[in-house]
Amino acid sequence: MLIAQISDTHISVPGKKAYSVASMADNLTHCVEHINQLTPRPDVVLITGDITYSDHPDEYRYAAELLTPLGMPWFVIPGNHDSRGNLKNCFDQVNCPVTSQILENDFINYVIEEFPLRLIALDSTRSKHPGGEFCDARAVWLEQQLDAAADRPTMIFTHHPPVKMGVRETDIDGFIGAERLAAIIEKYHCVEQLICGHVHLPMFTRWHGSIVSAAPSIGLHLRLDLTLQHPSQFCLDAPAFQLHHWTADSHLVTHTISLGAISGPHPF
Ligand SMILES: [Fe+2]
Ligand SMILES: [Fe+2]
Repeated sequence: MLIAQISDTHISVPGKKAYSVASMADNLTHCVEHINQLTPRPDVVLITGDITYSDHPDEYRYAAELLTPLGMPWFVIPGNHDSRGNLKNCFDQVNCPVTSQILENDFINYVIEEFPLRLIALDSTRSKHPGGEFCDARAVWLEQQLDAAADRPTMIFTHHPPVKMGVRETDIDGFIGAERLAAIIEKYHCVEQLICGHVHLPMFTRWHGSIVSAAPSIGLHLRLDLTLQHPSQFCLDAPAFQLHHWTADSHLVTHTISLGAISGPHPF
């Protein structure tokens, strides 16, 4: 099974660039075309939040238009640049099959059951705040889902990494309820990996018996500042995405694919 992960697309309205300089629509088109031509073809594409630049309904519509050519099922979750209501107004049950309506909240949580690896969409957003959150209601829901198939290998896809990874986007933006999520991850050994976005850099770390990974953005590359002293800056980079390969031997192997110009291939 092959899963493509596209993250942090930050799509503006047609004709506008993200932060006035980043051609994210072109980058997304490039990724979609590349994914459609891959052999083997990914079985599914997960878009892990920050779909829009500024949460405008037209930006969601444009993102949907750009994603529609994907030749396989694809699914969306929100990031901190998005809002649940606007996202759900644009993406239907095919691409955002929300079934949980928890209390007065409206989390974008759902489970995709039809693949060898069970895929759980977990809404980590915190209203009007850049950081992540995992509240009691979401904990109850997640535990119910994991209980329902605790022997099936599972991937959780969410926007915010729940662990401090040494950059502002995790350490300073924060994640309320990380210890709550950690307790669940520690309990359910079926969780192979939590795949995230938000950081705009490919990063991995071991966390409570599982792996937390962050995908690159499709072109807004975070300038790495391990001092945590400087305001966030980005560089424009080639479009990139990740491929998570659930191998025949049941190992989850992650590849980061950059669509920048290269020379080759040459024989080894
Ligand atoms: Fe982002
Ligand atoms: Fe984000």
